[in-house]
Amino acid sequence: MEQELNTLQTLAKDELNAVTDSAQLEDFRIRFLGRKGEFSSIMKGLGKVPKEDKPRLGQLANNIKKELESLFDKKKISLNADSSASGNGSSIDLTLPGRKPETGKLHPVTQIMNEVCAIFESLGFSVAEGPDVEHDHYNFEALNIPAHHPARDMHDTFYVSDSILLRTHTSPMQARIMETQQPPLRVIAPGKVYRCDSDITHTPMFHQVEGFLVDKNVSFADLKGVLTIFTQKMFDKKLELRFRPSFFPFTEPSAEVDIACVMCNGKGCRVCKQTGWLEILGSGMIDPEVFKKVGYNPEVYSGFAFGLGIERIAMLKYGIDDIRLYYENDLRFLSQF
Ligand code: PHE
Repeated sequence: MEQELNTLQTLAKDELNAVTDSAQLEDFRIRFLGRKGEFSSIMKGLGKVPKEDKPRLGQLANNIKKELESLFDKKKISLNADSSASGNGSSIDLTLPGRKPETGKLHPVTQIMNEVCAIFESLGFSVAEGPDVEHDHYNFEALNIPAHHPARDMHDTFYVSDSILLRTHTSPMQARIMETQQPPLRVIAPGKVYRCDSDITHTPMFHQVEGFLVDKNVSFADLKGVLTIFTQKMFDKKLELRFRPSFFPFTEPSAEVDIACVMCNGKGCRVCKQTGWLEILGSGMIDPEVFKKVGYNPEVYSGFAFGLGIERIAMLKYGIDDIRLYYENDLRFLSQF
């Protein structure tokens, strides 16, 4: 009987090692450890062994059984771990909601920029882009802002060297285009601009869209017509426009354009500081001095120009009160657009 027990022990261990799934493990349990299994049938012989051998054999049989049972338990745990790791075991909860794939979106500033460009393109304007790092000449001189002109103060310029700077507006594109092309011209120039300024309504980098039209007999009424159509399309409703006299060295006359507050419809609220109006852009008739510098005859040609801030339009359109939110890259903010 001792012989039989030892043989069974070796055989059972080998068989258990070869087990690779839970069905085989169950077969093993029935065959060796079950009530009618091989172990039980050897134990039935215990009644027939000589009395003096009984305690020793009983002890041996017990130890072997305990060992096999503990090996069986270990095997069971390791099979479970394997199957849940490979993802096809019964421990997967199929009722859990699936993982949603994340989809990327365009930044709100890019979206508004595209919208603004699309509106002007529908009015026959073509799109031109120019460099962010600009010559002092195009940013200032060609726009009738000579060195030491007080208007330079307003621009909070980042200089790279004495004559190279980060453009402070998109207006240099007026000079760049007019220098190389002849009228009639209908152009918009979107892009980044830079000013050394930072608070809830200013960031050191922001976006503008410049627009200008040059031809014979262009009047202020044309400027007003184009901007009226633009604001109506941009804000999806008929909005009143107000032209406020202003000054830019490169336009004469100049005007800042306000729209009736999109929040309160002109009644007066926190956003428009109780005035009922929101400033959205600077504009004017291109100054004859600018035409002269690019070789156009101001007696023959006239034109208008305007420059609008994209972040500002997006803030008004979406009711955002802090411009810095655009550049913190918080997905909870960005994913709303
Ligand atoms: N460039 C001006 C600015 O940034 C805006 C402007 C553009 C005004 C074109 C008149 C004509 O403030």
